[in-house]
Amino acid sequence: MNLGVNIDHIASLRQLRKSTRPDLLSAAKIVKQSGADSIVVHLREDRRHIQDRDLWALRKKINVKLNLEMSIAKEIVDIALKVLPDQVTLVPEKRKELTTEGGLDVVKNKKRLSSVIKKLKKKNILVSLFIDPEERQIKTSCALGADAIELHTGSYANSKTVMQRKNSLKKINQAVLIAEKLGLIVNAGHGLDYDNVKAIVNIKGINELNIGYSIIIESVFVGLSTAVKKMKSLIKIK
Ligand code: PXP
Repeated sequence: MNLGVNIDHIASLRQLRKSTRPDLLSAAKIVKQSGADSIVVHLREDRRHIQDRDLWALRKKINVKLNLEMSIAKEIVDIALKVLPDQVTLVPEKRKELTTEGGLDVVKNKKRLSSVIKKLKKKNILVSLFIDPEERQIKTSCALGADAIELHTGSYANSKTVMQRKNSLKKINQAVLIAEKLGLIVNAGHGLDYDNVKAIVNIKGINELNIGYSIIIESVFVGLSTAVKKMKSLIKIK
């Protein structure tokens, strides 16, 4: 199982003071050297953390798989088509949300998604769709030509009871089986931390976990390298 580390919140810290530090490229280098398999950033329409210049710099200077999370807004799609990240993960985006809430409704957004996916694939960008673990979302993702899906683990991570947790895990398990049968690459993420990640690691068939917040807040206490290594060791399948 691979680890994609989302470094948005290194940029959030920098943007608090509109400063040049902490330096995002230095962070990306440490994350890569500490065992991350990919660097994940979300270029938001409001540019609250990652800026356009960050994306170009990461693309040019860091030799690791770059996974760009983004909405399907035309402005952002046009940027992706110029920067050419290795992978794009399409997510829903709302201005006022603190972080991505829920998966993309691919059933509802079929038409627009189909055109965006075609454009990205024409440029050889691997396309992943961030969706809730639901059969019709998975089947539609496949029909639209996505290469991969990222299963939203938020409901699992936010479970308040043992029952909720069990049901969420069951849904994720079933979703992985459906997606695998359709030949989709299966990734997962959102809300995963050092305590809850193990149950997801135990699900066979997941290719990559994308984790941000928990690693960055841990790094405040132990340093970025140790925080990444610690997560990487937890997601190693025995
Ligand atoms: N995957 C996707 C699609 C996301 O939008 C996010 C949040 O940016 C993550 C994974 C990482 O979530 P977290 O920061 O809660 O680990």
